[in-house]
Amino acid sequence: MITWGISANSHDAALAVFDDNKLLFASHSERFSGKKNDPDLCESLVNYAASHYGYPKEVVWYEKPWAKTLRQWRAGQGFNHRSNNIKQYLSQYGIKAPLYTEWHHESHAAAGFYTSPFKEAAVVVIDAIGEFETLTMWRANEQGLKQVYKQRYPDSLGLWYSAMTQRCHLKPNEEEYILMGMAAYGNPDKLYERIIDDFFDFSGGDKIFKMRRNLHRGCLDWAPELTVNDTFDIAAATQAVYERFFEKIIHRVKTLVGGDNVVIMGGCALNCLANPIAYKHFKNVWIMPNPGDAGSAVGAVLARNQQHIGWETCSLGYNIEPTEPTEAIVEHLLKDKMCGVAQGRAEYGPRALGNRSLLADPRGPTIKDTVNAIKRRQQFRPFAPVILEELANDYFDLHGPSSDNRYMQFISACRHPELFPAIVHRDLTSRVQTVPKDGSRIRQLLEQWHTATGCPMLLNTSLNIKGQPMVNDQSHARAFEQHYSVKVFR
Ligand SMILES: [Fe+2]
Repeated sequence: MITWGISANSHDAALAVFDDNKLLFASHSERFSGKKNDPDLCESLVNYAASHYGYPKEVVWYEKPWAKTLRQWRAGQGFNHRSNNIKQYLSQYGIKAPLYTEWHHESHAAAGFYTSPFKEAAVVVIDAIGEFETLTMWRANEQGLKQVYKQRYPDSLGLWYSAMTQRCHLKPNEEEYILMGMAAYGNPDKLYERIIDDFFDFSGGDKIFKMRRNLHRGCLDWAPELTVNDTFDIAAATQAVYERFFEKIIHRVKTLVGGDNVVIMGGCALNCLANPIAYKHFKNVWIMPNPGDAGSAVGAVLARNQQHIGWETCSLGYNIEPTEPTEAIVEHLLKDKMCGVAQGRAEYGPRALGNRSLLADPRGPTIKDTVNAIKRRQQFRPFAPVILEELANDYFDLHGPSSDNRYMQFISACRHPELFPAIVHRDLTSRVQTVPKDGSRIRQLLEQWHTATGCPMLLNTSLNIKGQPMVNDQSHARAFEQHYSVKVFR
């Protein structure tokens, strides 16, 4: 039976298609609509899913609309008819199947646990806000998911991190990763105690923290005497404070649930600087490659089905049937150092992992500027390396087994930063993607590149025109090629 999981009407909408418990397709709406972080479904995404897999017999929505509406009303945001009437919202896209709803944090937890390789695990969900919950912990096993701890709005680490992102003159709910990158350039000690004192309250009994103020509308008024010159210090202290609470959270879930396995979900699980802390308390860590709300398109269905799906890949989106051979890509890279690749199914999740990637030779001091000329992003942000999994430990001091590093979720110290300045951050770490012997095209490309050069890695960044979502289909790939005069292999 075809079931669709949908997460939309908030930010970064997504749709997943299941046949019973088999995941057939998943994509962000933005890839089809061309609007970055599109909060709404779009006709072309719905048509693609319907024409390839059929309209659903059931739809599962990723949160409880009535509870979210109640919280918004209680928070003084008025009564939001649109977020309460999901049936009507879906019918405008021609989706009329019976509708089921799951709790926001349970969708996150299910997306994590049922895609994990674990039969039992501690699960922690940290995000800005669900209906009411902002931080939950779960005991997960074959009997299902049992919540063992929760914190509620407005006590939210995610909301606070987004508010600080905005305070650093960045876009909240979108550019948290830029704040994370800025952290390495500031002094965390200058504002650390002040941030703790001004924002956090420890009088909440067994609660890990409470917030001194409601950050739903940000904190642009905080510390008005700090200027743009202090931004990197704010970022550094914000990240350090986040890591302090992240460690407390991981410690708490270990105490409550125990075991060797932890699953981390929610938008905060994209904090690849903090994530390695989890290995201090757990032997095995799983973060679903799309841990934010868009991942809950899959999570909503898994919360309903309560069964593992045998996760293999996040290449689940739009398919571009490859016509150009891998040999041609290697030849081009040897000559021109850089090219785009848009082959196979688009990645479901925020990272380009080789199917919609701008790839480059990572060696030497000049390539960072060359790629930056295309990406036009802040100079302080490094690019990520993609590397043959079995050789990754020769180049990076990886956390956990190298197979835990397939989705760029952990930073690792680079062992030869002087050779690869383009993929090394100021703190000499890299956000590594390892590729196993899975026969994928990116694997074949890395193998051939290694044979030709002796170098087992490439620089990998997402294939997108600045300000736009990642390339999805052939027409986007052509547009990228024309815009930047960079060859895109398809
Ligand atoms: Fe969430």
